[in-house]
Amino acid sequence: MSSQAVNPLREGIADRLSPESCTLVIFGATGDLTHRKLIPALYNLAAEGALPPAISIIGFARREKSTQQFRSELETATRKFSRTPLNDELWANFASSISYHQSPFDDAEGYRKLALQMEEEDRKRGTGGNRLYYLAVAPDQFPVILGHLRESGLSTAPSGSWSRVIVEKPFGTDLASARQLNELVNEVFPERDTYRIDHFLGKETAQNIMVMRFANSIFESLWDSNHISHVQITAAEPLGIEGRAGYYDKSGAMRDMVQNHLLQLLTLTAMEPPTSLGADAIRDEKVKVLRSLRPLRGEDVFRHVVRAQYAAGLINGQPVPGYREAEGVAKDSTTETYVALQVNIDNWRWAGVPFFIRTAKRMPKGGTEIAVTFKGVPRVLFNRNDQVLDENVLVIRIQPDEGVSLRMSAKMPGSSLRIEPVKMDFHYGTSFGKATPEAYERLLLDAMSGDATLFARRDEVEEAWAFVDGIEEAWKTRSDDLAFHTAGSWGPAEAAELAARHGVTWRRM
Ligand code: BG6
Repeated sequence: MSSQAVNPLREGIADRLSPESCTLVIFGATGDLTHRKLIPALYNLAAEGALPPAISIIGFARREKSTQQFRSELETATRKFSRTPLNDELWANFASSISYHQSPFDDAEGYRKLALQMEEEDRKRGTGGNRLYYLAVAPDQFPVILGHLRESGLSTAPSGSWSRVIVEKPFGTDLASARQLNELVNEVFPERDTYRIDHFLGKETAQNIMVMRFANSIFESLWDSNHISHVQITAAEPLGIEGRAGYYDKSGAMRDMVQNHLLQLLTLTAMEPPTSLGADAIRDEKVKVLRSLRPLRGEDVFRHVVRAQYAAGLINGQPVPGYREAEGVAKDSTTETYVALQVNIDNWRWAGVPFFIRTAKRMPKGGTEIAVTFKGVPRVLFNRNDQVLDENVLVIRIQPDEGVSLRMSAKMPGSSLRIEPVKMDFHYGTSFGKATPEAYERLLLDAMSGDATLFARRDEVEEAWAFVDGIEEAWKTRSDDLAFHTAGSWGPAEAAELAARHGVTWRRM
């Protein structure tokens, strides 16, 4: 690889292990995730020469189809969803490693045949007996698939090789179900071979939070309650629920986004420096943040959390229906599509610093960011009388337009002393001249390398559910707190009031 082709961010936060040759079996291979994310990610890895020397990809699904037909459907999808244009020659080469295995998930015979097919692939391609199973199916299919993997002996790696499982979200719907699922998975695969996907952790900028904090002396020395007044973490989406009513109406924004992605961003922002860059050292620190979250229960929930639903409105000037009008959603649904919460991390570093988290569908603009607001300067010299200066704000933009900006005060040119906020801005695109890879690219590669740093550990998932359960429990007791906002607006007045109680306004993105 030429030095130009190396993206410094790809090096990530730890010394990279190399992906090892393996057979990847995707359960639920005819589904949306495989078409939109997994195969385009694998194709891009292949195009960059990043895949291991030998790989075989087996799609395991119930529908009747030939390998040829499967490959051609995947080609159509990859043309549509790949972040780089499809190169016919590269695709043909990559597609030759894909095959289709038709079987119901509950048929022992299907797993016996899968074993034979994998042995054949090992002989043909040299995949060395390594197995990576990807559960891209609804959670109710997990028990039957895991059970058969165990009974057929497929979950146990032949000596000298490995066998791992990747589990997609949702990882449970509350603490009890997450525990049950963890028990189930860990009966078949030990924790070290279990890779729970939180795709936000695979985003380059999420990985860069730790680099920003621990590779720059100027930030970390200010990273505490002495210097920071508050933190806002936002994930806004202009999209609605995109035909996912069956899942979303039971889930809502709290379970869909906060329990996993946003609490993960919070842990990366607030964690202590880990003792090393090892997967467990990092995850130990993240889990401590979750344990330090002040629980929200009962009446406190209604003081600290605002939930809302979007009503009909305009997105980019186009009319869009309200949430309750979406197909598959009950007309009286109380599921939240907007949630804003104020949380406290009760530890030494963060005592007294409010963290604000907000996520919603049908916002005017899409974007995910972490904004750290520093305390203002004393009200002497420039910060007195009628001119109150804006505070310094460090914004880590997770997406789109990945980058970091710092707001400062500067004197406007001219004879009078007028001070205005200015921004110092860093954009990944222009600084590194390379598009950032998709989260799934990094995560698939890490699972093939045996690096679990960017995957959620069992205790992290359970702590996050323990926190969210308190809120969900309180919500079950009433629904009159559910607010409404017009699609295409920045959320309900109640959320603005929540922030205003701390003297804060939500950032306009
Ligand atoms: C998923 C949620 O986990 O993340 C979706 O289920 C959401 O509702 C998506 O739209 C957001 O991810 P991204 O990468 O598109 O920001």
